[in-house]
Amino acid sequence: MRKHILLGISGGIAAYKSGELVRLLKKQGHEVSVVMTRSAAEFVAPATFQALSGNPVLLDTHDNALGNGMAHINQTRAADVMLIAPATANTIAKIAGGVADNLLTTQAAARTCPLAVAPAMNVAMWNNPANQRNIRQLCADGVAVFGPAAGEQACGEIGQGRMLEAVELADLLPDLWTPKSLQNKKVLITAGGTFESIDPVRGITNLSSGQMGIALARACRAAGAEVSLVYGQIQSAIPIGLHRSEQAISAQQMYDAVHRLLSGQDVFISVAAVADYRVKNAQEHKIKKTASGSPPVIELTENPDILASVAALPNAPFCVGFAAESQNVLAFAREKRIRKNVPLLVANNTALAMGQSTNQVILLSDDAETELPLMSKTDTAAAIVQELARLLARTKGV
Ligand code: CTP
Repeated sequence: MRKHILLGISGGIAAYKSGELVRLLKKQGHEVSVVMTRSAAEFVAPATFQALSGNPVLLDTHDNALGNGMAHINQTRAADVMLIAPATANTIAKIAGGVADNLLTTQAAARTCPLAVAPAMNVAMWNNPANQRNIRQLCADGVAVFGPAAGEQACGEIGQGRMLEAVELADLLPDLWTPKSLQNKKVLITAGGTFESIDPVRGITNLSSGQMGIALARACRAAGAEVSLVYGQIQSAIPIGLHRSEQAISAQQMYDAVHRLLSGQDVFISVAAVADYRVKNAQEHKIKKTASGSPPVIELTENPDILASVAALPNAPFCVGFAAESQNVLAFAREKRIRKNVPLLVANNTALAMGQSTNQVILLSDDAETELPLMSKTDTAAAIVQELARLLARTKGV
């Protein structure tokens, strides 16, 4: 979804990361306008951001680049969201106090769109009681605070105050315009493929990349849910801002992790491609080739069905299952939804889904079967969350 992002850059060394952020946001298809403080322009030249954003970079309240001299109004009215990254202690203090003494702070005061700040400062400045008071004030005023992260700082000290990475800020930004349809909900998600050992170096796994589960974790977080993620083998990074995430390699480990984390969850979304069978005679040491050339015999035994076990609990959370089918998708999915007793099932064709960044799914519930178009897993996840929210509201009788 293309948005107009107003990026404010205040004067900290982390300003060099903001170039990467503009590049990422543009790559995602967004329009980006940059406003800088004079101090920020000492760290990175405005020409850098002009080239990356493709728009003029404004610095002064009376900048005439926009013709009518109303940059604080024109730019903020055009913006869907304003992000200040890096946000120094000084700029944070001014915004918390309603001070408008340069174009960036004037825009923060004059905006009508949501605002997020990404603090970046020395650890002692971050912990300073005045700064902490200002951060609390921003939160109370409805401003989103992204980070900061802990780690090694430009000054050589170690602690909290590092600006989040550009990729993390780009990940969090959509939360600002996503409807909070899962507010106050706790959601547990499994993602990725499991791995069943044959011996210490070999195993049985599948082609799942984990992208669909990760996209759903992001979409649920963006919709306001507290998200816990249990993941097997995945090829994408774990999103920022999750309540917790932990890895579970085998189906049995995933079963144990899910049941340990289940208490208090409102929703369980079982996206993981779980091995139906594990090796009964797994070997402690690497299996050697035999002189006779006869292949080893691998015996299989059935794994527990995680989704069915959760759905069968007396106080089961609202369960969302997936059906990975290579043929007869709709018929198998209908049967699976009933057999596993899940109110919402997402049917997908393995050829279109596994290992791909796009997916084409059918959403099956007791009152609807909706075929979605082929689209990115991000958009598919958003559509699943929308349907989930509809069914949850219906369950509550809202
Ligand atoms: N699932 C699970 N535990 C298993 C197997 C599957 O939790 N041991 C979950 C998956 O996460 C998915 C749903 O059950 O949400 C359906 O998985 P799928 O692989 O499509 O079906 P299976 O139950 O394995 O049945 P089949 O292999 O016969 O298609």
